[in-house]
Amino acid sequence: MASPAPDAGGFDAGNPLTSLTLAELRQRTSVKWRLHPPDVLPLWVAEQDVPLARPVADALRRAIDLGDTGYSHGTQYAEALGEFAAQRWGWHDFAVDRTTVVPDVMMGIVEVLRLVTGPGDAVVVYSPVYPPFYAFVGHADREVIEAPLGPDLRIDHAALDEAFRRARAHGPRPAFLLCNPHNPTGVVHRRAELEAVAELADRHGVRVISDEIHAPLVLPGAHFTPYLTVAGAENAFALTSASKAWNLAGLKAALAIAGPRAAADLARMPEEVSHGPSHLGVIAQTAAFRAGGQWLDRLLDGLDENRALLATLLAKHLPTVTYHRPEGTYLAWLDCARLGIATPGGEPGVASDLAGPAKMFLDRARVALSSGHVFGTGGAGFVRLNFATSPAILTEAVTRMGRAVEVEADQSTTG
Ligand SMILES: Cc1ncc(COP(=O)(O)O)c(C=O)c1O
Repeated sequence: MASPAPDAGGFDAGNPLTSLTLAELRQRTSVKWRLHPPDVLPLWVAEQDVPLARPVADALRRAIDLGDTGYSHGTQYAEALGEFAAQRWGWHDFAVDRTTVVPDVMMGIVEVLRLVTGPGDAVVVYSPVYPPFYAFVGHADREVIEAPLGPDLRIDHAALDEAFRRARAHGPRPAFLLCNPHNPTGVVHRRAELEAVAELADRHGVRVISDEIHAPLVLPGAHFTPYLTVAGAENAFALTSASKAWNLAGLKAALAIAGPRAAADLARMPEEVSHGPSHLGVIAQTAAFRAGGQWLDRLLDGLDENRALLATLLAKHLPTVTYHRPEGTYLAWLDCARLGIATPGGEPGVASDLAGPAKMFLDRARVALSSGHVFGTGGAGFVRLNFATSPAILTEAVTRMGRAVEVEADQSTTG
């Protein structure tokens, strides 16, 4: 069967990842396209090379035409997420009255931490993990304690038990920041794994905050389990938005959701926090959850194809790099240890900081990736590659990376 023609309007039909040309993408002014010079292919920050889904663009256009650019009001965003969550994940007891709108997921996490922990308390994270977990927890005057993932990159419950013990000894009100699905590994936690987390958290008196921003991006073969649907998670929180799946990071608005036994805590969220999200953000994110399902399905098909293409490209051009095939997200966590490039130690948390293999690939291949060391313990020697791009750009990037490794190897033998 012939592959579908690229969508002329950029919105409706076909794979959203093949709708835009490199020349069109380079006109963007977001950080993905502007941090590096124009000869660099940017496969780092979690923005996607897709046009807006039509329902989102239509909702925004209507708001602009009406001049509907005032302050936000109402619960339509949470209602739309609730309908989406019931359809996609079977989350039927989603309670709109236990939600509140927050400016974005990371600010929402900080505000929830303020509700349930105190200054100096410990916040446990799995490592390696999304770098801002370190930066924002530090900014909120809380202390990060790492629980390294197991060698299979899945939850290591013994390490978590130990980290919870240390967190409890560190301060009276510890929390655990879960990344579900996990960035950067693309692991989608299973219900049994999450039940074990809930059991440990209960035993140690740790409050769980689950970042579920990648939840709509679970790829064929895996199934997303919302943490708040897990037995024992009744006093936990979840944070989410449509911004990763529909590429809306610039249209700020996210949701904090409380389990039944966390509702009283969420009710203490200061009213001014809900003034942070933008009305256009609420409109866009609501439209995505309410009417963006078909677009999302086409995106997921495209990401699934790219996930397979990446395996083929790596086998051909970078056979010594180990690819842990992600179950969700559009992020590939690549183990470059066998390239033998040293990564100097550094602080986790600064997402654009480059060292080791990522620096070599930028310098020699002109491909921008995220450097593994900024994801904390276990990250050095890895790079994170964002494959939410066209197959053509992905192919060009990995081909260039392969050539760079050959040049590097030639120089070390001749030099
Ligand atoms: C796990 C995770 N949480 C949060 C964010 C950022 O979300 P926001 O822009 O809503 O703060 C990202 C962005 O990539 C992410 O991967």
